[in-house]
Amino acid sequence: MRFNIFLFLVIVGVSCTSKQMQSIPQVEHELVDKPVVLDAKLVKNGKKVFKKKCASCHGQEGVGITGMGARLNSPDFLGLADDEFILKTIENGRPGTTMASYKKARRVKKHIPSLVAYIRSWQNDYEVFKKYKVDKTIVLKGNVEHGKKGYQTYCLYCHGPIGEGFSYGGPGTGIGLSGFLDVASDDYIKKTIQVGRAGTAMKPFGHGRGLARLNETEIDDIVVYLRSLK
Ligand code: HEC
Ligand code: HEC
Repeated sequence: MRFNIFLFLVIVGVSCTSKQMQSIPQVEHELVDKPVVLDAKLVKNGKKVFKKKCASCHGQEGVGITGMGARLNSPDFLGLADDEFILKTIENGRPGTTMASYKKARRVKKHIPSLVAYIRSWQNDYEVFKKYKVDKTIVLKGNVEHGKKGYQTYCLYCHGPIGEGFSYGGPGTGIGLSGFLDVASDDYIKKTIQVGRAGTAMKPFGHGRGLARLNETEIDDIVVYLRSLK
């Protein structure tokens, strides 16, 4: 009997720890209107791992290297991508690109929450997050054919004929590939198109300073077209 209770406690203990490892409680924070408060130990550890495992492609402090790794420290990216987006991208990778899946990488796997915390620690513009809050439940409607035309006119040049990304030779990422489309919500894609990504060739298409000014219908059509590529 005593043995059974002991076993029970061990099992409960183990399942609790593995549950804790799956979710990322230490990185949870209310981003809406106050600065991010992050666990300093996680950030420090994340910095170490990032330097060793990620900086060769993403640059020191995530500045990005065109054709090698996306810029991770722009306020626009950090304002639109939530922790889950970053976590899942590291876990799943981006098949068809050089961004590997770290789900099974022995030396990186257990540090993924630290990496999320470290990447999040670059965020210093909370205004962007407040302004562009992504609603993941939105499913956009649009015209695939119009979207395809729009894509070919405005996006193909950098992202490739069907969104294949760096492998096409342009500066844009693989936005037609499943690794990206599985993790990105419609609203994330739409808002990225509208606001662009500071410090990269991705200019805003939602207002005057960009390469072209697209209205919401034109942007929705492009998002619906990208979804159809999967
Ligand atoms: C002049 C080049 C250029 C053009 C034109 C361009 N992009 Fe981009 N795009 C980029 C770059 C560069 C990035 C970001 C790469 C990085 O973060 O380092 C990017 C990033 C993105 C992302 C975020 C991808 C991710 O991995 O999070 C989306 C979505 C996107 N672009 C959609 C579009 C769409 C749709 C169009 C057409 C309306 C477009 N882009 C036109 C260069 C371009
Ligand atoms: C061999 C190069 C390489 C290495 C090493 C690498 N990445 Fe990437 N990473 C990429 C590329 C390329 C992309 C963009 C893929 C695409 O086209 O969608 C990317 C995309 C990302 C994104 C999504 C960015 C966005 O704009 O949506 C995140 C987050 C990320 N990487 C984190 C990491 C982390 C954390 C590590 C270290 C554990 C890492 N990467 C290691 C090449 C790399």
